[in-house]
Amino acid sequence: MKRSIWQAAARRLELPALQRDADVDVAIIGGGITGLTVALKLSRAGRTVAVLEAGTIGDGTTGQSTGNLYATIGSRLSALRRKWGEETTREVVAARAGAIDFIESKVGEFGIDCEFARCAWHLYTPPEALADDALLERELDAAIDAGLSARLAPSAPLPFATGPTLVIVEQAQFDPLKYVRGLASTIASERCAVYQNTPVTRIDGEAGVVHTDRGRVSASHIVVATHTPKGSDLANLQVAPYREYALAMRLRSADYPRGIFWSAGDRHHSIRSYRFDDSEYLIVVGERHKTGQADDTVDRHARLEAWARAFFDVATVDLRWSAQGYYSPDELPYIGKSVGSDKVHIATGFAADGLTWGTLAGLIIGDEIDGTENRYAERFRPSRLDPAKSAKKLLAEGVNVAREYAVGRFGAVPAAGEAGELAAGEGRIVKIDDERVALSRDGEDRLHAVSAACTHMGCIVAWNAAEQTWDCPCHGSRFSASGAVIEGPALDALKPVRWPPTAS
Ligand code: FES
Repeated sequence: MKRSIWQAAARRLELPALQRDADVDVAIIGGGITGLTVALKLSRAGRTVAVLEAGTIGDGTTGQSTGNLYATIGSRLSALRRKWGEETTREVVAARAGAIDFIESKVGEFGIDCEFARCAWHLYTPPEALADDALLERELDAAIDAGLSARLAPSAPLPFATGPTLVIVEQAQFDPLKYVRGLASTIASERCAVYQNTPVTRIDGEAGVVHTDRGRVSASHIVVATHTPKGSDLANLQVAPYREYALAMRLRSADYPRGIFWSAGDRHHSIRSYRFDDSEYLIVVGERHKTGQADDTVDRHARLEAWARAFFDVATVDLRWSAQGYYSPDELPYIGKSVGSDKVHIATGFAADGLTWGTLAGLIIGDEIDGTENRYAERFRPSRLDPAKSAKKLLAEGVNVAREYAVGRFGAVPAAGEAGELAAGEGRIVKIDDERVALSRDGEDRLHAVSAACTHMGCIVAWNAAEQTWDCPCHGSRFSASGAVIEGPALDALKPVRWPPTAS
């Protein structure tokens, strides 16, 4: 796995793994921004809590995000207003702004050194795009209507010529990994156990038991804060997984942009800067595609680099990484009680706006479990159903998943003996009898052979050469070359396959 700039800058966090069975009020699966916000709220409210993180705190999507915090949303406020109306748009903005305020207050209260700073958010017209003044006008109108302090500027404060730019002041940036590790260090206590390296193997919502290889945790409430719910949950079938690519670069000049910059052109890019270890870095994000559905993942980083070099005086490209986002069909996340169980609470569908949504989700779920009224809870209820707002995207993504399932399961693939040699870093699906096998060779010339059938619902995984992973094109589960679960709804590893195959 490639490291993000936050992972490169992070210090080790010493927290134990689960050692024995435990009995708590609330079990939280996932030690990212959502899970730790819930843990903070409920442990402060006197509940006993166990956080179960599969790897290291914050090393999932939180630690691969942009570190940008904003009250607007990536799919555009004007589009949200068109779909949901003015009142909901105002609520969304107020809720997200409140989440940013919450982060700021905790940074101050706990003295978390995560470089939290208020800054302006910009939506700029890039040089390669025709100016779409109507888009900026619509966004300006929606932003002001929703209570944001916004204005149009003739250009963006970037070291290249841009067209008109929408500016929203008083948004924020921070180091998301330092923030969640700061939260974890602060709340870890007898009442709130925070476990690392404790992957969950099964969730029994009815009984209120979370199973791991290291012990079981019994709880009155289970919070599945894993970006998309683990296992079988209706929400997994409703959200669509996409990946996006990021680079951290040093420049020859001192022209590092100050603030958050999103391009308004067809090819969406986001830009920000970050300083650590006495060096400043430019972070550029873009080249989005549906998870498991691109065979040019390495080229995506190269294209992003070429784009950055066209506009910035790039000296070195220091870090490359990518991250996943889950997109809901009606533009709003699903937060609250799972449709399938009263004891299970979920949060997903954050799109690329997850740090702010994750914090809000933590606050809403914390209130839900604590029995405290939260004025935003109803808006994000996972059981909501409004076909007028979601049917078109649900149908399009459903057709896409059905096609991927059929192509993966029934499309032509070479038999194992005809597949040819694999070079280091390559992966390929081959057939042995009727089974599809995911075969890859790592950088140390080791061959890995695992079943290509995703353990979530059986779609056939695809090789991601940029990350050296097997990615599922249906609901976004991702696995290492040797089959271990990295993220997504799958709970079980891809099954190992004997290699070379024995003749049948
Ligand atoms: Fe659902 Fe793979 S993630 S089938």
